[in-house]
Amino acid sequence: MKTRWYKDAVIYQIYPRSFCDGNGDGIGDIKGIISKLDYIKSLGVDAVWLSPVYKSPNDDNGYDISDYRDIMDEFGTLDEWKEMLDGMHARGIKLIMDLVVNHTSDEHAWFVESKNNNSEYRDYYIWRKGRGKNGKKPPNNWTSNFVGPAWEYDEASGEWYLHLFSKKQPDLNWENPKVRQEVADICNYWFDLGVDGFRCDVITYISKTDGLPNGKLAIPFIGWEKYTMGPRYHQYIHELNQRSFSKYDSMTVGESIGINPDNAFESIDESVEELDSVFSFDHMGVDFKFNIFPKKFDLKKYKKILSRWQQLPKTCQPTIFLENHDQPRSLPRFVGECKDKRELAGMSLAASILFIRATPYIYQGQEIGMTNCVFEDNDYMDIMSIRVLQTLKKRFPILLPYARKVLNLRARDNARTPMQWTGGENAGFSTAKPWMKVNPNYTEINVEDSEKRQDSLLNFYRKALAYRKGKEVIINGDFALVNPKDKDVFAYSREYDGKRLLVICNYKNKRVKFKLPKNISFNKANLALSNYLDSLTTPKDTVLREYEALVYELE
Ligand code: GLC
Ligand code: CA
Repeated sequence: MKTRWYKDAVIYQIYPRSFCDGNGDGIGDIKGIISKLDYIKSLGVDAVWLSPVYKSPNDDNGYDISDYRDIMDEFGTLDEWKEMLDGMHARGIKLIMDLVVNHTSDEHAWFVESKNNNSEYRDYYIWRKGRGKNGKKPPNNWTSNFVGPAWEYDEASGEWYLHLFSKKQPDLNWENPKVRQEVADICNYWFDLGVDGFRCDVITYISKTDGLPNGKLAIPFIGWEKYTMGPRYHQYIHELNQRSFSKYDSMTVGESIGINPDNAFESIDESVEELDSVFSFDHMGVDFKFNIFPKKFDLKKYKKILSRWQQLPKTCQPTIFLENHDQPRSLPRFVGECKDKRELAGMSLAASILFIRATPYIYQGQEIGMTNCVFEDNDYMDIMSIRVLQTLKKRFPILLPYARKVLNLRARDNARTPMQWTGGENAGFSTAKPWMKVNPNYTEINVEDSEKRQDSLLNFYRKALAYRKGKEVIINGDFALVNPKDKDVFAYSREYDGKRLLVICNYKNKRVKFKLPKNISFNKANLALSNYLDSLTTPKDTVLREYEALVYELE
């Protein structure tokens, strides 16, 4: 039976490689996570989404899986994983695993077998003859999401295989019923071990247009419209739901490029029995054109995007996130240069997302206000950053200075620097040299220091999460933007069964006027949460201070 527990849940994302090293080899691992379970519990979160920990050659840090039923050596053993799961459950924390099944690693036994033309596994992947004389041109013009063509030629069989990511991540052929059954079996294997749900990696890419036609020329990838939300997407996900998800009190969240408020109903409404929720990325595009070229952050647009999700029927559960392992840090991304007001800014961002109707996700380090890092070419560890630099060095060196600037702002590496636990050596992440650069600001930004101060961002998150818990007006209330045209302030109201909430967040590092709209009337107001000690106890026309955030209950 589904309790839909996720409607009142906050989820904490762990990127295991960068969270905590438990055995002193410089790489985060399961032992490290176990040692931090009390910390995770102390935040007040209800579940953890753990990025992949399965066996993997790590071409894309675990998003290339070579064995779906076992744990990566660097991260530990299946027994340690079980201990971690028990430790979470004992603390009332659920575990969401990452399900990466658009592709496998090229070192997965299926793919190794599949290279043999006559194998029954051949059809587990997408093999095609090439175009042109001798078939030496790829079967179509699609490009990989990681730079370069989406096809790799295999000498031995004289055919090409499709890889929408790196060539070490061949795409599975979901048209093959055996593949779909394998995926359901994998999910059930982990459900039977006790996991509570899955975050489904690039799940909207699984169904490709029949005949794999050429895509239209586009930035940043070619072919996107031919494989995103393809013809049998709904059929396959519904089938997976029936074979697996629906049998457990689970939660699923898709990484769902291509699902937007207009088509969300047919993808996540409870009645369709597909996924329970999805991540969409439109609000992450507000300050990057085509996801790569920086542009000015536009709060009005951002508010509009988020509020469209809020208007969906209550049987569709939105999600909200500001960070994950693929995105740069939210500070100062969405709030401008915050300088000495970094934590106030983090609080304003937190308050603006934690009380809308959604399942919020908090990414490791967000709760202490970790920021982007400055990288030199050799510091980059992410395959995407490395490929961009390699390609430009070889083919367009003239673009390098610009690319370096953009990478520093946009690279996924920004989110992957080791978690900053203390001001001590290696930020307390490891006793050995960490696998990637530690952000030098760890001496100032770290958990140890945040714990000491009552007024830290960390403690604000704790207060906000405790406040949220169980409140119907937050879980189910109607949402309305307040002053939607305001370029500086993100304000909204929630209403449920006579109870109202008014949230006012200044996104700017300056004082700004706030006008309370006439239609917001009340007899009594109670200031439930704010990030200044002496905030107004009753909302009215006022001047908000830098990054001031206010949450009122109205009667
Ligand atoms: C998703 C993951 C990302 C990974 C890609 C390929 O976008 O979040 O980290 O590189 O899928 O699996
Ligand atoms: Ca380790």
